[in-house]
This record gives sequence, structure tokens and C-alpha cells, in this order.
Amino acid sequence: MTKKTLRVSKIKDGTVIDHITGGHAFDVIKILGITGRVNGVVTVAINVPSKTLDVKDMVKIEGRELKSEEVDKIALLAPHATINIVRNYKVTEKQRVKLPNIIRGIVKCANPACISNSKEPVQPTFYVDSEEPLRLRCHYCGYIMEKQDILKQF
Ligand code: CTP
Ligand code: ZN
Repeated sequence: MTKKTLRVSKIKDGTVIDHITGGHAFDVIKILGITGRVNGVVTVAINVPSKTLDVKDMVKIEGRELKSEEVDKIALLAPHATINIVRNYKVTEKQRVKLPNIIRGIVKCANPACISNSKEPVQPTFYVDSEEPLRLRCHYCGYIMEKQDILKQF
């Protein structure tokens, strides 16, 4: 580039998901269910040079502030992401996502024989064995869930 220009423009109102590990933007899009028809502008930037990460991805969702359940889901696939709430061009809230040690109620166990998939009133519960690559271990049957098992559910 001969001229210094803004690669992606600022948004007026909405959510900027920043510092997504390079290559993971589409996982974030998928987990938020933004694959089909959506309202409003969604901008995806891949492999943007970053100060803290080698390269990062970014997703900007205009006109919508993410709910806390959505932020929790993002933590599964982009554990270093920053969620910025933008109001009238200013970042009014900045939140680092955080993956808790125990995940409850966000994903189901991929083992069909698991008691958490029966009629029993048990809440799916997983221990985070590893963040990147993601490995969640089922409290009930020990099944190890990986990223693909999780993406299939969204
Ligand atoms: N952003 C945007 N539209 C705005 C304001 C900010 O798209 N109206 C984007 C910025 O481009 C940036 C992110 O939101 O990718 C966070 O903005 P800001 O906090 O101003 O940037 P930094 O200080 O670099 O953030 P951090 O310290 O989290 O790296
Ligand atoms: Zn299980």
C-alpha cells in the first residue's frame, strides 16, 4: 500500500469482537449463528497484523450488542478475544472473554449414551482440560469434546 488507510472502518453502534486468534473468525460467526440471513452489517477481518498476537481476526457487528450468553460461547472458540461495545463511535465497554474452569449448560455432550443426553434432569457439565486446542471433558461420561463437536451444535 502506498497510502496509510484504515483497513476496516469504525462502526457507530454495535459490538467489535477483537483479538480473535488468527483463523478463528468463522468459528465465532458460526457460534453466533450469523451464517444465514442477518439484520445489519457484519464485517469480518482475517489476518490483521496485531501488536499482541501474531495476526488476529476481528468481527464487527453493527446495530447489536452481544448478550452475555453469546460472550460465553465466544470464550470457547476465541479465549483471547476482547468484546468492545460501541455507542456513538466510542468504545463504552471493553471486556476480555474468560473461559471458566467448568462449563455448564452451553454445550451438550456428543456421546449419545451419556446420561446428560437421557431424560434424566442433569445439566451438561464439562471440565476445561485445554483451552487451545479446546478440549472439554464430560463430568458424567469422560467423553472429550473438541472444537468440531462444539461447532456442530451451533
Ligand atoms: N472500533 C470500531 N469502531 C469504533 C470504535 C472502535 O470498529 N467506533 C474498533 C477498533 O478498530 C478496535 C476495537 O474496536 O479494533 C477496539 O477499539 P479501541 O479500544 O479504541 O482500540 P485499542 O485501544 O487498540 O483496543 P485494545 O486495547 O483492546 O487493543
Ligand atoms: Zn457425557
